[in-house]
Amino acid sequence: MMNPLVQPEIRIDSYLGDGQERSLADDARDGLTRPLKELPPKHFYDSRGAELFDQICELPEYYPTRTERAILNDTATELAAVTGAVELVELGSGTAAKTRVLLDALHAAGTLTRYVPVDVTEGMVRDCAQELIEEYPGLRVHGVVGDFERHLDRVPDPAGPRLVVFLGGTIGNFAPSERRRFLAQIAGLLGPEDHLLMGTDLVKDPEVLEAAYDDRQGVTAEFNRNLLHVLNRELDADFDPSDFDHVARFDAGNEWIEMRLRSRRAHTVTVRALDLPVHFAAGEEMRTEISAKFTRERIDEDLADAGLELVRWLTDPEEQFALTLSAPAG
Ligand SMILES: C[S@@+](CC[C@H](N)C(=O)[O-])C[C@H]1O[C@@H](n2cnc3c(N)ncnc32)[C@H](O)[C@@H]1O
Repeated sequence: MMNPLVQPEIRIDSYLGDGQERSLADDARDGLTRPLKELPPKHFYDSRGAELFDQICELPEYYPTRTERAILNDTATELAAVTGAVELVELGSGTAAKTRVLLDALHAAGTLTRYVPVDVTEGMVRDCAQELIEEYPGLRVHGVVGDFERHLDRVPDPAGPRLVVFLGGTIGNFAPSERRRFLAQIAGLLGPEDHLLMGTDLVKDPEVLEAAYDDRQGVTAEFNRNLLHVLNRELDADFDPSDFDHVARFDAGNEWIEMRLRSRRAHTVTVRALDLPVHFAAGEEMRTEISAKFTRERIDEDLADAGLELVRWLTDPEEQFALTLSAPAG
């Protein structure tokens, strides 16, 4: 008898836990022993972090998600026609909420056969795969559970013209040199018929930017402190999240938002799994995310450095957020 759990439309490959990935333990050991303590934002996204991020996307102050969705709504049909994509590869796919706008357009155009979500959070990739095969009859989903900084080479070979999407402004979480390196790696996924669609938040009034990362309901603060719960659970640390204030500040020189956690008092935390005492001075800040804001010139330069050229520049009437469609330079 056929095993009802085996679904031919879904394949999920997981590359986490095989010892290859740069783990939370490595990042914590490096990041908590630096003069400016720092942890990379990918560790926010356990199931609670993913839930909080979804709530952030609905907040009145958090304009990026609704603006990006509006741009997608306006342009998806055109994007489907220009790309003729047979498969959609999504980096940091999350719940694929906005992706459905593109999947709808590609499905309606009759070209779509495969969706390849790449995300560190296994539960989200699995749930999303299940939902999508039900929503789009005939669609195959090949999920890659992994770190997109390490596992891009695990993205399966293309099944036809490919559209790689990297939404939500997540590219802004990279420091500039890493960002250029990463864009070059993404370009490596593209053949002459393929495209990249990337979402980037644009430089604007610092008050608007800071409010987007420090909402009045305190959801972003909880999301930021969730990182300490992750460290407590995964590395047997003894952070008291109420010892830390959420800080969101626009750095005008670098044109990025920084999220930090500021220690309310001098105290020492122990990360028991690493046998690591970590001292915090009163007022000391630990950086948990940068989120770069872009200008069109900056994006053009970054794309050109990666051997890509702009095909469409898509933005909202107030130019708050941009989607760029690019392709390997001919
Ligand atoms: C800011 S959310 C964006 C989610 C969705 N794409 C959107 O636009 O709303 C970032 C997503 O990227 C994933 N992510 C972050 N860093 C990652 C990494 N290094 N490798 C794979 N996925 C990552 C997170 O799990 C999360 O789902």
